[in-house]
Amino acid sequence: MAEISKELLLEKFEKAFGDKDNASVYFAPGRVNLIGEHTDYNGGHVFPCALTIGTYGVARKREDRKLRFFSANFEDLGVIESDLGSLNPGGDRNWTAYPKGVIWAFGQKGMEVTQGMDLLLFGNIPNGSGLSSSASVEVLTGFILRDLFGFEVSNQDLALIGQFSENKYNGVNCGIMDQFAIAMGKKDHAIYLDTATLDYQYAPLHLDDARIVIACSNKKRGLGDSKYNERRQECETALKELQEMVDIRSLGELDEATFEKFSPMIKDGNRARRARHAVYENQRTKEAVNALKNGNIKVFGQLMNASHVSLRDDYEVTGIELDTLVDAAWKVPGVIGSRMTGAGFGGCTVSIVKGSEIENFIKTVGEAYLSKIGYAADFYVVDIGDGPCKL
Ligand code: GLA
Repeated sequence: MAEISKELLLEKFEKAFGDKDNASVYFAPGRVNLIGEHTDYNGGHVFPCALTIGTYGVARKREDRKLRFFSANFEDLGVIESDLGSLNPGGDRNWTAYPKGVIWAFGQKGMEVTQGMDLLLFGNIPNGSGLSSSASVEVLTGFILRDLFGFEVSNQDLALIGQFSENKYNGVNCGIMDQFAIAMGKKDHAIYLDTATLDYQYAPLHLDDARIVIACSNKKRGLGDSKYNERRQECETALKELQEMVDIRSLGELDEATFEKFSPMIKDGNRARRARHAVYENQRTKEAVNALKNGNIKVFGQLMNASHVSLRDDYEVTGIELDTLVDAAWKVPGVIGSRMTGAGFGGCTVSIVKGSEIENFIKTVGEAYLSKIGYAADFYVVDIGDGPCKL
């Protein structure tokens, strides 16, 4: 995926807003999660990393309270105007809900934004792909606000504010993983994060001669977000039922044996499977990080595969598109592991593939997908990058 140059961004800004005086250029990455899916709102562990693709932003502050937004990904929408007085949770129907949500969230956290701004965004994350373009925009906006207005917030705070805005302004009860992975990203490292405490470690990604390949299903997500909230609700109910017998604050505190012992407390079969996924996936994530530390990529890959099976059968968030991509990937020589990544219901898979086999992987999986699903998948060989920056 081509990098977008500073010159091009400033040119687009000038075209949208008339001039580029005092404008600065920024970048925030997208993310891919290697393992630990749907564990972050269950107090478990996750293992994501930031990518070198993401969202570019050009911004400057204004003397008045006007907000002017332009996205080079949605040029048809033109410049969208608003102002600081009309930030309205749940009230926006286009992409500006994300930057506006963050401006609103800063105010809620005692950092009132009192001057408007002009903001242009241009992303090179494939659209709606599950590589967290929304969290990327949120962290980018927070980073820009900090830089333009001098707020004293850490990158970790930017992640928390981004999540808060997504929850409260946009109504998606996401966990902390995406915003954290983006705000805290480190080149060539994945982040092993305990979502219960926010303790984290960087783990160098030594994949020998293998690379991370993302396959984008191109399935447009529709009801995904409401299903997401539904899964979260199911886990919360299961937790309450377990808490009648076990003293735990989250599903992430359970090991497999304790879960099996008390799972009959969960009064609904579907709910029990959702909780089982959350518990087992958390344990898998811990094992996977250990395997990687010990240089055992093979085991890491097997755990990725097991993660997909659990997301497919117990959590039921995969669907025919992601299953087709993963089934095909598992059959290709040189594939160390393959699974869906992110929320599911469409979006992407992540595979670790030996360098020499990547071409064959893309061809074989691409053909299998096209013939079964009827439209093509897109493939990206990605690199692990740093968190947000000013360019
Ligand atoms: C989405 C959410 C994350 C996380 C994943 C599933 O990406 O934003 O918080 O819950 O789904 O692991």
